[in-house]
Amino acid sequence: MPADRERRSYWAGIWADPEIAPLILQHGRIFALTQRNFENGLRRLFGSLAGRTVLDFGCGDGLLLSRLSCRRRILYEPSPVYGDVLAALAASDAGPHAATVVGGPQEIPPATVDLVVIHGVVQYMPLAELAEALRSYRGLLRDDNLGIIVADVPHPNRLVDTLGALSAHPTTLLQTAGQVLQLLRSRYASDRLQRHRLRELVALAQSEGFGLRRLDTRSFNRARRTVHLTVSGPV
Ligand SMILES: C[S@@+](CC[C@H](N)C(=O)[O-])C[C@H]1O[C@@H](n2cnc3c(N)ncnc32)[C@H](O)[C@@H]1O
Repeated sequence: MPADRERRSYWAGIWADPEIAPLILQHGRIFALTQRNFENGLRRLFGSLAGRTVLDFGCGDGLLLSRLSCRRRILYEPSPVYGDVLAALAASDAGPHAATVVGGPQEIPPATVDLVVIHGVVQYMPLAELAEALRSYRGLLRDDNLGIIVADVPHPNRLVDTLGALSAHPTTLLQTAGQVLQLLRSRYASDRLQRHRLRELVALAQSEGFGLRRLDTRSFNRARRTVHLTVSGPV
């Protein structure tokens, strides 16, 4: 679809822009709260991930899962802005925090991944692209896999989503408001975000052979949603 193609290249351009990308990626107190909430959610859901391989899709600077203890983190990030940072992470992280950077899911051998994490990414992906991605992950998952976590999915209503960010935590109000103002002055256009509805994600998951359940894992932004996709048939 031409509109989808145009949107994909718009977002690829925004994330490749070294002036804008740092304004969108979470940092400071917002990042700390996000990371803690997400780690707690994973712990509640899976307990230990020791011995598991986790693919962090659209990982940005790769920090979100950097404290996770697992066999290996595989980091995939299309934006060139994070190339050096990720290379440094892969060179320094070791043992239960070991990381490998890949240039795309096609570089990952089939049936070698236990869990895929897509955190704060689907808003940049039209449904058709997301369907394509789910199809490619399916073949990467091991038989006894833990599925796919899709997290930090924006609320379909833009106002609700913005209020969710502004009211997330008293100590982050100024940081969030500052970030919103900086973005408003940039060429970032939040009305171009994909605001997938839960029922669209359910239908998509089903058509790609996944089961879907909504998790109560909270994002920094309380209005955002987290879902767990499980493989319902043989991989
Ligand atoms: C809000 S950041 C989230 C980064 C990281 N997952 C986190 O939560 O800290 C969104 C990331 O998605 C990446 N991204 C955007 N479009 C993508 C796509 N079509 N496929 C994969 N990643 C994409 C961006 O380059 C960016 O690093």
